[in-house]
Amino acid sequence: MSDQLVQVSREGQIAVITINNPPVNALSTDVREGIGEAIENIVADPQVKAAVLIGAGKTFVAGADIKEFAKITSEKPRESRFLQMLLKLEDCRKPVVAAIHGGAFGGGLELAMAAHYRVASPTAQVGQPEVNLGIIPGAGGTQRLPRLAGVAKAVEMCAQGSPVKAEEALRWGIVDQLIDGDLCAGAVAFARQIAEKPAPKTRERNEKLGTPEQNAPLFAAARENARKRQRGMIAPPAAIDAVEAATTMPFEEGCAFEQKRFLECVLSEQSKALIHVFFGEREVAKIPDVPKETDVIPVTTAAVVGAGTMGGGIAMVLANAGIPVLLKEVDQPALDRGLANIRKNYANSVSKGRITQQFMDERLALIQPTLSFDGFSSVDMVVEAVFEGMQLKKQVFAELDCVCKAGAILASNTSTLSIDEIALATSRSESVIGTHFFSPANVMRLLEIVRGRATSKEVIATCMQLSKKLGKLGVLVGNCLGFVGNRMFGPYRREAQFLVEEGASIEAVDKALFDFGMAMGPLATGDLAGLDVGWRIRREYRHLQAPGVRQPFAEDKLCEMGQFGQKTGAGWYKYDEQRRASSDPAVVVLLREWSAQAGIPQRSISSEEIVDRCIYALVNEGARILEQGYALRATDIDIIYLYGYGFPSYRGGPMWYADRLGLDKVYARICEFHRQFGALWEPAPLLKQLVSEGKTFAEFHPERGAAA
Ligand code: 3HC
Ligand code: NAI
Repeated sequence: MSDQLVQVSREGQIAVITINNPPVNALSTDVREGIGEAIENIVADPQVKAAVLIGAGKTFVAGADIKEFAKITSEKPRESRFLQMLLKLEDCRKPVVAAIHGGAFGGGLELAMAAHYRVASPTAQVGQPEVNLGIIPGAGGTQRLPRLAGVAKAVEMCAQGSPVKAEEALRWGIVDQLIDGDLCAGAVAFARQIAEKPAPKTRERNEKLGTPEQNAPLFAAARENARKRQRGMIAPPAAIDAVEAATTMPFEEGCAFEQKRFLECVLSEQSKALIHVFFGEREVAKIPDVPKETDVIPVTTAAVVGAGTMGGGIAMVLANAGIPVLLKEVDQPALDRGLANIRKNYANSVSKGRITQQFMDERLALIQPTLSFDGFSSVDMVVEAVFEGMQLKKQVFAELDCVCKAGAILASNTSTLSIDEIALATSRSESVIGTHFFSPANVMRLLEIVRGRATSKEVIATCMQLSKKLGKLGVLVGNCLGFVGNRMFGPYRREAQFLVEEGASIEAVDKALFDFGMAMGPLATGDLAGLDVGWRIRREYRHLQAPGVRQPFAEDKLCEMGQFGQKTGAGWYKYDEQRRASSDPAVVVLLREWSAQAGIPQRSISSEEIVDRCIYALVNEGARILEQGYALRATDIDIIYLYGYGFPSYRGGPMWYADRLGLDKVYARICEFHRQFGALWEPAPLLKQLVSEGKTFAEFHPERGAAA
């Protein structure tokens, strides 16, 4: 097995060790053993003077095989044979040159650093992304990287997990040479040059490890940064500790320290959740009845209707992917406003150094403003982003039906309206689909792709593929009110309001959920998005509310007072010119008055109850969505919540979180809320069913998921 995964060939006196474990040459147990055997072979072969270690296919090595982490338990901790194998590689008297293309990530970079030299293609990347999986490097990465790149760069790479491009890796000393053209040939030539020289060992290079005085501020800054930017995560501080150990302990002790912290992390709930997210991000692309081979419609030109908040952002997203886009508005002032916003957004990015002026100019040149449908007949796709209103949407789609070519995709960015009803305004419902971007569209990664009853598989496949090109994570959902994300957000925000109406302070509700890990509390989120949005939707759908069922009132009353949130300077909180929030004593008094009028008794509410009510409201609605087939899998719901709603990634998403807590416990608490608070807490039938079967959400697959 291992000799198929790792092959050794010869180029004269240079051995070429090729790792061939598609798709990404992950270091499974067999691959690691294969590399170990290959090293033994070259040591034993008197003809070989040096070796090149290279990956077959599109990449060097993407790291340890992530699937194998599930096998590590506290009873059966991971053996450190990989670490031993790397020592054997480093101690090999014949120099080994790692030749990197694609990526050398995690264990892949650790492998390369144990080699004596590293050469790379100019397009290659290296990194220690383990923290994104809730772990830290586990094969000496935290000990060898500071010896090659210096402490500052190593601590940044290990704690933040971001990749480094080849040229930067060269500058930092991680890579010794870049090779244009044929990497293997270049690496063999490099190996010939160094074949007779002694093989330098990374673990013996201590000159970049700095002094305690130099390092102390670096570690303090890294810890502060992790505390703020990776709030609640255990792996980044552990990675920093391990790099620090490299500066205070001999190599072997440092490795033992790293192992201990690695093990703590890999056994943690956080790591299980983040590994679920890693595979979940990839799973959402798999749609059972729309196979990979489904034909896609080439999208080389596009149009956006409406240049408001969303339309402008969507036009930027398309232009950023190099797609020329027509941007249509109703009148010149609206068009000018839309374009001014787009320019301002790009200019901001230029001033922050995120993009160059040239990039901005090129992207702007791709956005062609217009007040007419001229040119629409040749575009491959239109995204509609006009005001939220069925009549207007239908009118726009009827117009698009007249002007667009056959086969063009007609997408709506509606956040609440039925795609099927919008499609009725056209003569081609198979071409109509929902592309629900999140605000700000040019920043947020989530894209809910809403499948209408008649949407063709080609149109779905195209939008899923396009989402990747646009840098988005596309998740297919069915066509129900609020689709998946907003449908769940309703009960979540409803509970937040109820809690305030029952006596919790606004700050206490937001803080409990922020401390749980949400990017923002639910009430502050309402202020940011605009309280009027939900207010309008509630008015439109009031007829659907069951009579006699308690409904929240506080937000409606705030809106009636013209307090729409940040945009009006006041909502749940009041805001200064810089949009900094502070408590609004008037709102606090009003809340008590409103609650008294409604006869709601006031009580003290624990942060545990706040979290349980808001998060279980998400879970209960998620269970209904799953059962009704509006999401393909529980994972899809998790990904939507992580990328669209600021759910903490280290908790894996609401459905994963519930699974890990134990659905029996979640069900029992929901039943308790049902008794205490009434009909809105009716447990979802699926939840009850799974509890009785002893199963999890992850084990449930709806028969016709995402309303196929
Ligand atoms: N282990 C197992 N499977 C892996 C894997 C890994 N390290 N890396 C990728 N895969 C799988 C993916 O799940 C996917 O499977 P699928 O086709 O069945 O969905 C397939 O390989 C292709 O992956 P992508 O779709 O992600 O391919 P891309 O070309 O878009 O991206 C990549 C390639 C940038 C390498 C990306 O896959 C990636 O980031 N991989 C993980 C890198 C990583 O985190 N490495 C560290 C691992 S932990 C470690 O090494 C610990 C060490 O310190 C001991
Ligand atoms: P907006 O009010 O900022 O912009 C709408 C724009 O459409 C206005 O500039 C208006 O002049 C233009 N418009 C109206 N009729 C038009 C027509 N016939 N032809 C061309 N342009 C026309 O609205 P926003 O926030 O951008 O919302 C647009 C859509 O996106 C809505 O369906 C909304 O529900 C949805 N959405 C909004 C999100 C948000 O956070 N704002 C998030 C996700 C979806």
